[in-house]
Amino acid sequence: MYHKSLKPFPKDFLWGASTSAYQVEGASLTHGKGPSCQDVKELPPNTSGLEVCADHYHRYKEDIALMAEMGFKVYRFSISWSRLLPEGTGRINQEGVDYYNNVIDECLKYDIIPLVTMFHFDMPAALDERGSWSNPDSVEWFVDFAKLMYECYGDRVKNWLTINEQNMLTLVGPIIGTLHIPKGCTNKVKEIYQQNHHMLVAQAKAMALCHQMVDGGKVGPAPNISLVYPASCKPEDVIASQNTNAIRNWLYLDMSVFGVYNNLVWAYLEENDATPTFAPGDAEALKNGKPDFIGFNYYNSMTVEDYALDDDNVHLSDSNQQHQRGDKGFYKGTRNPHLPTTEFGWEIDPMGFRSTMREIYSRYRLPLIVTENGLGAYDTLTEDGKIHDSYRIEYLRKHLEQVQLAITDGVEMMGYCPWSAIDLVSTHEGIVKRYGFIYVDRDEFNLKTLNRYRKDSFYWYQEVIASNGKKM
Ligand code: BG6
Repeated sequence: MYHKSLKPFPKDFLWGASTSAYQVEGASLTHGKGPSCQDVKELPPNTSGLEVCADHYHRYKEDIALMAEMGFKVYRFSISWSRLLPEGTGRINQEGVDYYNNVIDECLKYDIIPLVTMFHFDMPAALDERGSWSNPDSVEWFVDFAKLMYECYGDRVKNWLTINEQNMLTLVGPIIGTLHIPKGCTNKVKEIYQQNHHMLVAQAKAMALCHQMVDGGKVGPAPNISLVYPASCKPEDVIASQNTNAIRNWLYLDMSVFGVYNNLVWAYLEENDATPTFAPGDAEALKNGKPDFIGFNYYNSMTVEDYALDDDNVHLSDSNQQHQRGDKGFYKGTRNPHLPTTEFGWEIDPMGFRSTMREIYSRYRLPLIVTENGLGAYDTLTEDGKIHDSYRIEYLRKHLEQVQLAITDGVEMMGYCPWSAIDLVSTHEGIVKRYGFIYVDRDEFNLKTLNRYRKDSFYWYQEVIASNGKKM
């Protein structure tokens, strides 16, 4: 649809940006924090450990002051489970509780709304040893953790996100360093979707609890949603795209919003002898958890083609959060020849952002907030302390233009929190894959000064926010 004029961004639009605890804080094994699965995983080749990251743990005041200078209305960050509960359950680390109290108070000092993700890829290692999400007790572990967060912070934090990119934990857990497969497992699909089921129930219970415990509390999921295109108009490719949309996207949102399994996903699980076991009360719990809004991460679209059961000549490419390789009889991931890619090989598709927003809204009719969107790139700090990241500005501008088009299409948009507020360690490609508006002076292995510098995108975003999206 071509519009003759565009609607403005709503006047209370939430401009901000995101980070996650294990990628930004550092202090990963100090100040009483227990290790998480990220601290004990085998590091991806040529990437640094998580002991320092951006040193946000010690520099959050400086960082939040810079966010305030940009004009943030909201800061999305996550709480590290093993910083609050070093063993995942039981003993509380008061220093950890105090740290997040300080971060929240610092945000509020500048009228920045804290938007807190409860779980961002960092299962406490002690719970990993007890089976992680494969253990049915994981539901209650998570609910107890949520309860503690609501008790400690619910007086000031009114906006919550449950599990970051649960779909990526399920689809590409090994690349993120989170997958736990018990010894002797004979049906991996069944195992993974049983874990996924536990997360879904845990999420639903945590959402219901938020409404009970947090006065005025609002809560939503935060999956990674990308509309999946068919590679051609061949009907088989269209069926493959519907399959992939179901397994990648709608499973998670159908469940969060309606509390039921998507029928295509259920059929896929039946095919694989992998339907999850429901514990008593699960079906009811899934129905009872209701989100107030939908948070979602978007980096690009995805394209797939048919993958017939008798097709034995397929070379499947590698998977990551943005590109899943495929599943025989269901779909095969392929490249979209119409899209350019980033330096790290991720496709760039601003228009796919608009179609994704349209599709989510027309399916669920809840307000949307973008919880991640951004460009990972190598940045250079010049001798006079500048970072000329025009490529990032271009990426973000093109995506924001699509947000305004989606608003004009009638999509109810609450806010935009790109990834990331400040440079941080990527999931598997190190800190040199930078996303931030704020540059952190360190290399992969040389910690340098850790000083902060404002990138060109910092000043650009400051103006976008000040003009409420009029100047992009
Ligand atoms: C999302 C995650 O998948 O993408 C973030 O929620 C992640 O944690 C971001 O950092 C960018 O991905 P990557 O792999 O470049 O760090």
